[in-house]
Amino acid sequence: MRLIKTKAELIDALSSVHENIALVPTMGALHEGHLSLVSAARAENDLVVASIFVNPLQFADLGDCDDYRNYPRTLEADAQLLESAGVDIIFAPDIEEMYPQGTPEIWVRTGEMGAQLEGASRPGHFDGVATVVAKLFSLVRPHRAYFGQKDAQQLAVIKRMVHDLDLRVDIRAVP
Ligand code: PAF
Repeated sequence: MRLIKTKAELIDALSSVHENIALVPTMGALHEGHLSLVSAARAENDLVVASIFVNPLQFADLGDCDDYRNYPRTLEADAQLLESAGVDIIFAPDIEEMYPQGTPEIWVRTGEMGAQLEGASRPGHFDGVATVVAKLFSLVRPHRAYFGQKDAQQLAVIKRMVHDLDLRVDIRAVP
């Protein structure tokens, strides 16, 4: 297993891969639910990439809040779990690597879909999720990406983004 922290190294590592690539996007602090995403990904693909990135854009005030500051960051333990689960590459960029110019100017806008239900009490949350997931899709170029059904609205928003933006990735929903 490789732990990769930069986009350049990730792109280089994936450039010669011609088999099916899976992406399991996470924010770390992994639990059984994440491992079931990994095991579904492992069963259906040749190479499994898991990302670990606590994305400030999906928190209140773009991360200027206690929820973001106190979010558990447990990279070492997460890496051990992912290695035992058969992940090939962990992509764990820091914030400057992911957003070198700070908050991006261009976002994915999730409209009405992102403004209702959970989005009603978390304005901008789903725009932040969709934006970082679009970036991860662009970097990893996975054939399949795995999301938990537990986060039902997130799953619906990601599926709709893939449809509306013609992104070439198969979204797999895992219980
Ligand atoms: O579900 C999560 O952990 C996050 O929302 C995701 C999909 C990794 C995007 O930051």
